[in-house]
Amino acid sequence: MLAVTDLNVFHGNLQVVWDLSFHIKKGELVTLIGPNGAGKTTTVETIIGLNRKASGSIVFEGENILGQHPYDLFKKGLALVPEKREIFPKMPVAENLLLGRIGQDDTEKTLAHIFQLFPILKERKQQMAGTLSGGEQQMLAIGRALMSKPKLLILDEPSTGLSPILVGQVFRSLEQLGREGMTILLLEQNVRHALDMCQRGYVLENGRIIKEGKAKELKRDSHIQKAYLGF
Ligand SMILES: Nc1ncnc2c1ncn2[C@@H]1O[C@H](COP(=O)(O)OP(=O)(O)O)[C@@H](O)[C@H]1O
Ligand SMILES: [Mg+2]
Repeated sequence: MLAVTDLNVFHGNLQVVWDLSFHIKKGELVTLIGPNGAGKTTTVETIIGLNRKASGSIVFEGENILGQHPYDLFKKGLALVPEKREIFPKMPVAENLLLGRIGQDDTEKTLAHIFQLFPILKERKQQMAGTLSGGEQQMLAIGRALMSKPKLLILDEPSTGLSPILVGQVFRSLEQLGREGMTILLLEQNVRHALDMCQRGYVLENGRIIKEGKAKELKRDSHIQKAYLGF
């Protein structure tokens, strides 16, 4: 579905992503893990068209999309749940969700699916989004991305700022989406949860992929155990 090859990305004159190559097959759950500042957000912002100071190729469903406009890429099926969630606090939950849709087709059905994944959003649908807890706001941000019926759902550190119980809830919902066939790219610093949920992973450090493999192999890797899993 997505193949990134030899991607180099700059912020101004500063190169922060180096010769990055990775891929995701349809229906896979793949994680890009790495510490703060590794280049995870920069990489996905480049994929969805927000940073065009880049070289290499990003092929999505057979087409090189590098440099295309974010809205065109959104319509083609790429949806990002951003790190800062970026919900509209003074709008009700339901209206925040509707902002994510692309056409009018299937709105009711898609909403019903989102409410089944996150029942709390249904209970709170008339409430201003700003009154939701952090975890509920994360669910809302995921729900809004799902309103566009994406082919590839990208999540930028959904566990940030959530209590362990809520992290568990959010990840279980993502696993359910995976079982339903969604293709997911998950960026995380919460390496344990990410490797438990995903089938494969890539480790990004200082803008370069230093390791890749099946999640269960990465969990046994001594560098990953020492640096990320607290062994
Ligand atoms: N808008 C920006 N301008 C300049 N440097 C940036 C900008 N955004 C990120 N960076 C730098 O790029 C590097 C990668 O950052 P980022 O992609 O946010 O990493 P991560 O998401 O893994 O924490 C960091 O060194 C960061 O300081
Ligand atoms: Mg980031």
